[in-house]
Amino acid sequence: MEGMFSVRIVSVINYKGGVGKTTLTANIGAELAFRGKKVLLIDLDPQASLTFSLVRPEYWQQNLEAERTIKKWYESFDSSAPLSLSSLVTKVPRIQDYTDGGMLRFIPSHLGLINVDLELATELGGASLKQSKINYLRVHRRLADGLKEDSFSKFDVILIDCPPNFNVVTKNAIVASDSVLIPAKADYLSTLGIDFLQRSLRELVGDYNEYVQLESGDGGTQAINPQILGVVFTMMQFYGGQPISALRPYLRQTAALGVPVFDSFLREAKTLFAGSPGSGVPLVLMSGKTATEKQLVRELEGLVSEFSLKLGM
Ligand SMILES: Nc1ncnc2c1ncn2[C@@H]1O[C@H](COP(=O)(O)OP(=O)(O)OP(=O)(O)O)[C@@H](O)[C@H]1O
Ligand SMILES: [Mg+2]
Repeated sequence: MEGMFSVRIVSVINYKGGVGKTTLTANIGAELAFRGKKVLLIDLDPQASLTFSLVRPEYWQQNLEAERTIKKWYESFDSSAPLSLSSLVTKVPRIQDYTDGGMLRFIPSHLGLINVDLELATELGGASLKQSKINYLRVHRRLADGLKEDSFSKFDVILIDCPPNFNVVTKNAIVASDSVLIPAKADYLSTLGIDFLQRSLRELVGDYNEYVQLESGDGGTQAINPQILGVVFTMMQFYGGQPISALRPYLRQTAALGVPVFDSFLREAKTLFAGSPGSGVPLVLMSGKTATEKQLVRELEGLVSEFSLKLGM
């Protein structure tokens, strides 16, 4: 039945850096496309690591930098003719569409996106409390509104790779999302960080929905309710076929926070990942050679199955 299944939008967030957000986004997206889904990845990080894992820097400079990045889209709101967000949807050069309909697309980022965050923050104030609440909504739902364009409804899932912060652009992603995925390391600071992240999310959703209620008569805005899909532990250290015992207290502590935790996790495989950036093809699509590679690919595949199940797709 038409309209029964709508596109799922998932933000991959953690304001802690280097926990595997980008790696997970690329690999989950690539594996879902391989399994026949229509997948869009959005790179919202000024570091643009996702973008540069899919295209070479020279390709980006020649084909994407000037006109086709998310920075350009945000900046176009300063002009009288905002760009259409769907005009930025780009093919991944090294990954062909699959005959069963599976496809991977992405919206590239730009190092200058950092200035967009600062610019958006200056648009938040207002002469009155009422005006500042109107501005808050307008700024925070910009990406959500952009994703309402018709041509996004052809995707099964949209994954948004967020930067390691909780700034306005990250909040744009959360407001646009049905779910959030939280990659994390099993260590003391990460456990604290997840608690803080959970509270920051609650605060954002609370503020946003409070202002939506005040904004009567508009009718265009709706309350948001993004769900935490779960915490995924990445870079787990193993010894003798088991996660090392020092990690276990952190897994327990995270579960005790009341946040859902994925059964699947990923092992740490430093040498493996060191070689893969820039190849343009996420690891999960490559047939592993060594035992560790094969193991990691299996873990990624298992994770994607659990992800699909949790998302109901
Ligand atoms: N399971 C793993 N084992 C070892 N190294 C990994 C693993 N997953 C990712 N890495 C490597 O760790 C680094 C950080 O990963 P990634 O870029 O995915 O994290 P991130 O959370 O997106 O970082 P940032 O916060 O900077 O955006 C990268 O060099 C990546 O190749
Ligand atoms: Mg990243």
